[in-house]
Amino acid sequence: VTDDRLPRRAALLGSGVIGGGWAARLLLSGVDVALYDPAPGAAETARAALERARRSWSRLTLVPPPAPGTLTLVETVAEAVAGAELVQESAPEREPLKLELLAQACEAAPADAIIASSTSGLLPSRISSEMAHPERFLVAHPFNPVYLLPLVELCGGSATSPETIERAASLYRALGMHPLVVRHEIDGFIADRLLEAVWREALWLVHDGVATAEEIDDALRYGPGLRWSTMGTFLIYRLAGGTAGMRHFMAQFGPTLQLPWTKLTDVPELDDGLLDTIVAQSDAQAAGRSIEELARIRDDCLVAVLRGLRGQAWGAGNDVAATERRWQRTAPAGSPADGLARAGDSLAGPGDGLLHLHEVIVGPDWIDYNGHMTEFRYLEVLADTTDVFLPLIGAGADYAASGSSYYTVETHIRHLGQARAGDRLTVSTQLLHHDPKRLHLFHEIRRADDDSPVASGEHMLLHVEMAAGRAVPAGAEVLAALDRIAASQRQLPRPDGAGRAIGGARSAAGSQRSGAV
Ligand SMILES: NC(=O)c1ccc[n+]([C@@H]2O[C@H](COP(=O)([O-])OP(=O)(O)OC[C@H]3O[C@@H](n4cnc5c(N)ncnc54)[C@H](O)[C@@H]3O)[C@@H](O)[C@H]2O)c1
Repeated sequence: VTDDRLPRRAALLGSGVIGGGWAARLLLSGVDVALYDPAPGAAETARAALERARRSWSRLTLVPPPAPGTLTLVETVAEAVAGAELVQESAPEREPLKLELLAQACEAAPADAIIASSTSGLLPSRISSEMAHPERFLVAHPFNPVYLLPLVELCGGSATSPETIERAASLYRALGMHPLVVRHEIDGFIADRLLEAVWREALWLVHDGVATAEEIDDALRYGPGLRWSTMGTFLIYRLAGGTAGMRHFMAQFGPTLQLPWTKLTDVPELDDGLLDTIVAQSDAQAAGRSIEELARIRDDCLVAVLRGLRGQAWGAGNDVAATERRWQRTAPAGSPADGLARAGDSLAGPGDGLLHLHEVIVGPDWIDYNGHMTEFRYLEVLADTTDVFLPLIGAGADYAASGSSYYTVETHIRHLGQARAGDRLTVSTQLLHHDPKRLHLFHEIRRADDDSPVASGEHMLLHVEMAAGRAVPAGAEVLAALDRIAASQRQLPRPDGAGRAIGGARSAAGSQRSGAV
């Protein structure tokens, strides 16, 4: 984790698709946000985006986010920017509007505030031309949904100071983003230039009746789109050249650049006929699904891709891992008491005295041939819950790095119900017993929809000095944290099923071994 520091407070001018996304990312990271948007319902847009962000991040990582920032809706630009270290303008893409808004913001903002515009393509030198301090201005162009996609393109104008770009990059990194500095001020920056090229070709293909909206989208998502999430065009084409690499690729495909494969310089006229075709095809593709439904599908799929990339320590997955490390740092390791309080807030259960440590959605790949969650996933859910519990008592990764750790020595799982793909599972935890060397946990997995039990897991863990491979007493802070949990759960009855072993006559085991079943 680097020294990047979150902005002490943020101002958002505009709370539409992009402003709402910024609000969600900032609030989830723990930054207080003041929001100015003259349209009614602006705060609702931000809150809805925050809900989507929460849902997505709870699937991306088990590490609890920091305490959320507060959202304040204000009536004027001046109120919004008061005390802000980061001002993010995300108003409609109209140059005169941005000119005025940015000048106003600059007038009222603190002297050290960074003022950024989310513009997709307007030139920073132009939209900052009426600002009193254009040296503090830059374009910070994000991608929708802002709370999930890490890329933010930073582009200064002719007056922007290098220090502004550097400091902005640090603030956005602290928000879990991947700043890409666009070193030359150009229309459309880098990513939108590329996207625009694809978009123009797509419009021609519809215009010429070659392909429908759906066919074009399939051409992207079943092939190139999957690759693009892992490597960009250059690295992918290098691989396409085989072992002979880039030179071979260029030799093979260079000549095709002379062929009429693209119509990039030309744009089809967007007359009523073409517009009607596009709208009708797009409606057909959506098949009646609302924007909210489609956004959820998009977010869940992005989460799946980001999780995959994180597992490979590659690309955008590294930004997720960096966010996890940052959140971990604000969480329990060093101070178990703080950590418990925080986890208690963010994972607040129904006030039943249990710890509510983990939630997970049963993915389609967790299902076996009979349509239910397959057996080993139960242990995965239970073990993941223990992995949330251990940092809570100060026995997480940092503790293990100092040489000691808890090892699970015995597990007993009872299967009590079934889980199907898409079910949301919640896990609650009771500390049954602890002593200096042992930790006895009881997790219960329930289906969130109807609160019905799905499984219980009972686990005995031993505190081990790893180099010597022997059980030793845990550190005083860890034991104190366990004492606190035990005290808070003193009133809880012993859970049903605790201490159960598999029934059946002991001699049956002998006959099974001899193969006489
Ligand atoms: N939609 C995208 O995918 C995307 C991606 C990256 C960047 N952007 C850029 O972000 C900006 C916002 O785009 P959007 O898609 O969120 O648009 P949007 O229409 O969804 O939201 C714009 C918001 O600005 C508000 N607004 C209008 N006048 C205002 C004013 N004077 N002061 C403050 N707020 C005002 C509107 O009420 C609305 O809520 C644009 O510059 C756009 O180019 C959009």
